[in-house]
Amino acid sequence: MTTSVRVYPTATLAARNLAERIVSISETAMTARGHFIIALSGGNTPRMTYELLAGEWAQQIDWSATYVFWSDERCVPPEHPDSNAHMARLALLNHIPIPTSHVYRLRAELPPEAAADEYEKTLHNFFSSRGGQPRFDLVLLGMGADGHTASLFPHTAALHEKERWVAANWIADKSAWRLTLTASAINAARQVIMLVTGEDKADAVHAVIEGERQPDALPAQLVAPQDGNLLWLLDEAAARKLAVSQRAALKTQEIPRLMRE
Ligand code: 6PG
Repeated sequence: MTTSVRVYPTATLAARNLAERIVSISETAMTARGHFIIALSGGNTPRMTYELLAGEWAQQIDWSATYVFWSDERCVPPEHPDSNAHMARLALLNHIPIPTSHVYRLRAELPPEAAADEYEKTLHNFFSSRGGQPRFDLVLLGMGADGHTASLFPHTAALHEKERWVAANWIADKSAWRLTLTASAINAARQVIMLVTGEDKADAVHAVIEGERQPDALPAQLVAPQDGNLLWLLDEAAARKLAVSQRAALKTQEIPRLMRE
């Protein structure tokens, strides 16, 4: 497992780089296995990348052999403005020729545990003929200013889930349920890319990447693909407090491996 950091001057450049990387990862996956399996992240940060994939990059991906999942979902109806699937539909899925049967939405309108159980079964059925593990070609993630990723929030039960691939997670700080891939499912991926931009994330980026290991408080530290790569794609604002990237933007820096042991 390698962890690397790449810093771009602006969020737009980081988003554009992510779109290019997604195209490249899809080409590698298609060549190797004939399909591309991606888990989309939610929140606001990835929207620009999704719009790029729906626009100038749309022809670069074979959507007929692409399968779309999500890393997490809010427990709201599918048309709710807070729904991650709703955002991805508006920014990407409504504009590309992907077969609807290739889009696997978390049915977050169900009771949380039922929705998690259903998605767990969906993943097991999908991957049963593809090696048996949830080996996404790419899991996209973001990170909150509190160090959460997907819907793995600090000091929540899902952080300690070792068996399941999908969990319903009660977020006391939000008085809300969330659905999320567990660290086990995320870490089975070939590639994980954390796209994090903005000044408000700088402290968490520094703490997660360079600070002491405390995954219960900083769940993004749980992301460590066993047989895959983790790439942090940052803009300068989010990377501002990082020692390794302060010297050189637009450079890939290898994070000392001991950081992730
Ligand atoms: C979600 C996301 C979550 C997100 C971070 C960052 O459902 O909210 O999966 O993990 O990536 O909260 O969100 P922003 O991109 O909006 O800052």
